[in-house]
Amino acid sequence: MSKTRIAFIGAGNMASSLIGGLLAKGLDAAQIRASDPGADTRAKVAEQHGIELFADNAQAVQDADVIVIAVKPQAMKAVCQDLRPHLKPHQLLVSIAAGITCASLLEWLGTQPLVRCMPNTPALLGKGVSGLYATAQVTPAQRQQADELLSAVGIVVWVETEAQIDAVTAVSGSGPAYFFLLIEAMTAAGVKLGLSHEVAEQLAEQTALGAAHMAVSSDVDASELRRRVTSPAGTTDAAIKSFQASGFEAMVEKALSAAAHRSAEMAEQLGQ
Ligand SMILES: NC(=O)c1ccc[n+]([C@@H]2O[C@H](COP(=O)([O-])OP(=O)(O)OC[C@H]3O[C@@H](n4cnc5c(N)ncnc54)[C@H](OP(=O)(O)O)[C@@H]3O)[C@@H](O)[C@H]2O)c1
Repeated sequence: MSKTRIAFIGAGNMASSLIGGLLAKGLDAAQIRASDPGADTRAKVAEQHGIELFADNAQAVQDADVIVIAVKPQAMKAVCQDLRPHLKPHQLLVSIAAGITCASLLEWLGTQPLVRCMPNTPALLGKGVSGLYATAQVTPAQRQQADELLSAVGIVVWVETEAQIDAVTAVSGSGPAYFFLLIEAMTAAGVKLGLSHEVAEQLAEQTALGAAHMAVSSDVDASELRRRVTSPAGTTDAAIKSFQASGFEAMVEKALSAAAHRSAEMAEQLGQ
């Protein structure tokens, strides 16, 4: 990436996080450009990151090796169709828009090397995980560029088929909200057991963080970590048995299937 020139179309939350991550990794501000219709957004991002911003998308993509389209899914069609006459065949397009398929993108952009990504919200803090899918035109060097780009805001996993992006959406794209729901429910249960809301919330949040750290840093899987903290007939055992008697695993499977199904359904609607 030391010489790669990157253009961001849309300079909102996700683009700004990626730009910040890339600069922190040592990219020169002169390698990055962005465009956005909002004068306030342009001024804010220019001041925060010291990069050049444009009101015109076509100006931003001139001479770029990689073009990241970071607008809301509803704006993708118009943005891609307007960009089409300004693209050069070697330019790698990276879409981070939720629910827009490669078929739709290529129809709007014309034939281009294309990587479709599904990042998640913790990317805004540099703690994200992104699922990436590359179309056949993407060269190994461009794959590496996309990998390094999304690695600026977290970790990256590659999937083999585009349909797997719906599964990525179900697990990690929508996933932060599942943990927020669990934190909410644990906080409410702690309050019912006699704690103040503030204390219950602190306990639930820090426990989620600590457990995630343990799972990520350990060389054994989550089921083994769970076994290690569950003494037979102890307190954790009582809670886990209660979760399982209420069908916890089946509930999670059903919820993630609903998310994956909705992701595929939205792709059809947004692709029209
Ligand atoms: N935020 C997340 O955690 C997250 C997670 C996964 C995926 N994503 C995906 O990332 C993409 C960007 O999300 P975001 O949260 O960064 O949204 P955002 O903060 O709203 O940023 C989008 C930016 O694009 C600008 N824009 C609108 N029309 C444009 C055009 N024609 N040309 C250039 N720029 C234009 C918007 O300006 P105006 O505000 O003036 O319209 C806004 O500044 C979305 O497609 C979303 O699905 C985001």
